[in-house]
Amino acid sequence: MTDTAEANVRLGDPLNRIDAQAKVTGAARYGSDPDIARPVFAFLAVSSIARGHITRIDDRQARAVSGVLDILTHENMAAAIRPVKFISEGGYMGSSIMPLSSPRVFHAGQIVAVVLADSFEAAREGAHRLAISYADETPSAGFDSEGVEVVPGADASKEHQDPKIGDAEAAFAAAPVKVDAQYSTPTQHHNPLELFTTTCAWEADKLTLWESSQNVHAFKNGLAQQLGINPENVRVISPYIGGAFGSRGSLTQRTALIAVAAKRLGRPVKLVASRDQGFTIASYRAETRHHIRLGADKDGKLQSLTHEAFEVTSRPDPYMVSGTDASTRLYACPNVSSKVSIVHADRSTPGFMRAPPEVPYLFPLESAMDELAAALQMDPVELRRVNDTKTEPIKGLPYTSRSLMQCFDKGTKAFDWQRRDPRPGSMRDGDWLVGLGCASTMYPTQMGAATARVSLTLSGTAKVQTAAHDIGTGAYTVIAMTAAERLGLPIQKVTVELGDTELPPAPGAGGSNTTASVCNVVAKACEEIRAKVANAASSAEDSKLKGQDQKALRFSAGRLVGPDGAGEELETAMRRVTNGAIEIYAENTPHGVKPDAIEKLYQGAQTLAGGAKLQDRIQFAFGAEFVELRVHRITREIRCPRVLGVFAAGRIMNMKTATSQLMGGLIWGVSSALHEGTEMDRRYGRFYNTDLAEYLIPVNADIPAAEVILLPEEDHEINELGIKGIGELGNVGTNAAVANAVFHATGVRIRNLPIRLEQLLGTASI
Ligand code: MOS
Repeated sequence: MTDTAEANVRLGDPLNRIDAQAKVTGAARYGSDPDIARPVFAFLAVSSIARGHITRIDDRQARAVSGVLDILTHENMAAAIRPVKFISEGGYMGSSIMPLSSPRVFHAGQIVAVVLADSFEAAREGAHRLAISYADETPSAGFDSEGVEVVPGADASKEHQDPKIGDAEAAFAAAPVKVDAQYSTPTQHHNPLELFTTTCAWEADKLTLWESSQNVHAFKNGLAQQLGINPENVRVISPYIGGAFGSRGSLTQRTALIAVAAKRLGRPVKLVASRDQGFTIASYRAETRHHIRLGADKDGKLQSLTHEAFEVTSRPDPYMVSGTDASTRLYACPNVSSKVSIVHADRSTPGFMRAPPEVPYLFPLESAMDELAAALQMDPVELRRVNDTKTEPIKGLPYTSRSLMQCFDKGTKAFDWQRRDPRPGSMRDGDWLVGLGCASTMYPTQMGAATARVSLTLSGTAKVQTAAHDIGTGAYTVIAMTAAERLGLPIQKVTVELGDTELPPAPGAGGSNTTASVCNVVAKACEEIRAKVANAASSAEDSKLKGQDQKALRFSAGRLVGPDGAGEELETAMRRVTNGAIEIYAENTPHGVKPDAIEKLYQGAQTLAGGAKLQDRIQFAFGAEFVELRVHRITREIRCPRVLGVFAAGRIMNMKTATSQLMGGLIWGVSSALHEGTEMDRRYGRFYNTDLAEYLIPVNADIPAAEVILLPEEDHEINELGIKGIGELGNVGTNAAVANAVFHATGVRIRNLPIRLEQLLGTASI
């Protein structure tokens, strides 16, 4: 299929991205690209201590740098910015730590000053010349540090639930086969290629913010609250985003600082934070620890599952991902117990990072399942089959659809799983020990209330407007495809506008909801257009479609046609309704969201419904992942030549962009197991591998074959178009599949990520 085909678009077609040309030619404008004459440049100074307070800031040397215009510190900012609540407490902020509101320092790398100058170089020079004195206290760096505060999730948040059923303790004691093990996952940073930037410009009392954002309406409303101004006076523009993965989902502290700086100076101000500052001024994936206990009977049926977990967070914020929602519902099990606690330490507040709960919580579960399979001497795929279920075990709710075992069946064939000799260390390729591992993935199918405006002109062009976000996933393309298919137009005739608070609001791009939320409301608007035109045609004397049921008429290839294909030109049919264009604004409130969801959406406060949070059913996408690994017999070097993911995620809107998205997920999953980890110098509570040279990520040579197979799955319950969402499905479980493959290759079970060859040195060489 070529992009120039003037054929009807079908949902699922493997079309190229409609924004591809704009991106490769540089026409696409990212957060720091607005065309602003003579901006003031900002450079951040960040704290070198993790805990304590600032005793003195000597800025004389900094102010002496030619071009430096102003320096913001707590001494001159103090109450300039109003406190706004943390996201999980109903606010807009990704952290409640307010830099420059007091001399207090909560974490290393906290913003302590903003230097403003006529050039980037002068601002940076000024920041380096600030002499900041601190009274420092010994920080509690994280797990096991003195002075951390451990709080059960149920005490930290009213909404928190620890899924539980039956008597897991007794069932575990009675089970003939058991696994009892501890696991951990490291701190990780998203590191989107686009740095964290903010540009603000005021025109009288109106503020425009250019910042790459996964939630423009939330940024607008949150920033207005921080500045104490009417939200209608704030516009947020974010048409293109150079990667996000959750790091641009909530408002961070830098934004209001730049807005205030622009107001003080009466000039636009632009901030481009450095890569290392990005490790502490935005969010990251928190370090976690898990204790899993599985009890099974002799044929592998789970009788007991206990999942206890701990997550590190900052001092003030109860950030918690609680992946037990998923881990307690993946398999049938009559006795389940879970508990999540958070550990407050002297760190910046963590936040969403691609599949925030499922990546760290399925690692221990899917590792433990592999350990159970080994204990039972059972094939790990068969163990999953024995425990497959169509209802979740906690409330007994039915899965709307679940094709987990179909994914495993397809995957075992495509991966030739049968060649696997189950004995660890039994498969060799010269000096390399070969390991084959697998794991399940699951991700909640979630939707939010959404709005969109669609217009169709007489000449057969359409425009879709909605303040949704394309974080690099292909949202522009699938939204255009939806309108093209419904309006019977070639893709080239549809334009899409996203990422601007002047547009009708849509949910934030989080929780893999965008395609489901937005394409469904766009389809609804298109349906209203169709109904208007079809109604007119079915009752018009001069129409070839007169007397036909309007519901049977549809747009196809620039015409309005009946079931037999006969009909009339689009323009002819449309002229009965308009002499210009038909424009429809539509709202959609999906199953499970509160009735006031649209009103809330306009205030930038959306909630997603779905996953395990519904009262009447449970909706998830599933997949099976397979990893082939090589561990060198002597050096213990680990290579990952092949990873395969088979996914079933409802209707796939574009086979090409979906495949790319899931392939990226698999690569990230392997990366999460073998490469990524932000290291902390615990003496100082400071991250030290804060650049892309030392924060390891895989390159092409690290994963030569990343393969994706998409199984067709129809789910008519979840939403009209049957879309589940795929953004975060691909990188869940992969870390466990890697660890399971390491075990199969070497007989060594690694329960702490990332897996490094030093963990395999000194282990018995099989
Ligand atoms: Mo995502 S971590 O829901 O952007």
